Amino acid sequence: MIAMRARNLYDVDELEVMEVYELFELAKIFKKRMSSPVNKLPIFKDKTVCNLFVEPSTRTKNSFELAEKFLGMNVLNFNTSSSALSKKETLKDTVLTLSSMSIDLYVIRHREPGSPAFISKFTDAQIINAGDGLHAHPTQALLDTFTIFERFGSFKDLRISIIGDYYHSRVIRSNLKLLNKLGANITVCSPSTLTPKSSSLYNMSFTNDVVEAIKGSDVVMGLRMQLERQTDGLFASLKEYNENFGITEELFEKYANKNAILMHPGPINRGVELSGSIADKHYSVINEQVKNGVATRTALIYKMMGGEGI
Ligand code: CP
Repeated sequence: MIAMRARNLYDVDELEVMEVYELFELAKIFKKRMSSPVNKLPIFKDKTVCNLFVEPSTRTKNSFELAEKFLGMNVLNFNTSSSALSKKETLKDTVLTLSSMSIDLYVIRHREPGSPAFISKFTDAQIINAGDGLHAHPTQALLDTFTIFERFGSFKDLRISIIGDYYHSRVIRSNLKLLNKLGANITVCSPSTLTPKSSSLYNMSFTNDVVEAIKGSDVVMGLRMQLERQTDGLFASLKEYNENFGITEELFEKYANKNAILMHPGPINRGVELSGSIADKHYSVINEQVKNGVATRTALIYKMMGGEGI
């Protein structure tokens, strides 16, 4: 096991294909170990991590915290609402202040694209992007691809459909890059008004027809309708969106392949991008994705911080 080439993880661009597969192998080991009674591997007791979440999160923040504690780190959970950020202290001064307390790693989520790279100017600590605006969510892409790999063992000949609000989704941006690196066959289905011009950058098919997208798919990944980011009137109503782009049990069971899985990064809007109960069906791996979030983030921190010998 060698340390990762990149010091910081801003997006999946920093990861070589070989490193991605090494992370998958590590995640498998950690996942198994996490399910046993004596499970911790406290090898980073002398390291301090700051979870700098300036935007809300349930899955990413808590899974990082579990990963960090699994590895024995000192964990500083930055609380935005009770911090001096709420008194207009800048992000730069916040990071300069925290870094004076000897931080080794920042895990940062922020609404501004590029915030992780921005804070790197003010700290020697390593940095993991936990979601920056519409730009990137690399650890979500890692846990998603790990979930696919764990289920199918390969990306070759798999048909992966990603359906939903492409424009506002950092999840799809990182996933398209990583799935392209891993050689998957991708179809994206999104309303034209919610499809960015940059979509032509990736090797994928595109359709506005949800049936065409689901037909013959091994993986159907829904994207969250980002209600808090919809300020431009890019679609008529949630009802109309659901009627045209919603993933329903009927569509999935009729058109997806026999052993197909349903994925979604969460949080889900039941009755909008997914029908009310499809997330609870046996082919939904949404909760498995959350579980895999802990294992993949543990693997990433372990490798980034130079862990060796498990
Ligand atoms: N998928 C995801 O990033 O979820 P959270 O916002 O809950 O972290």
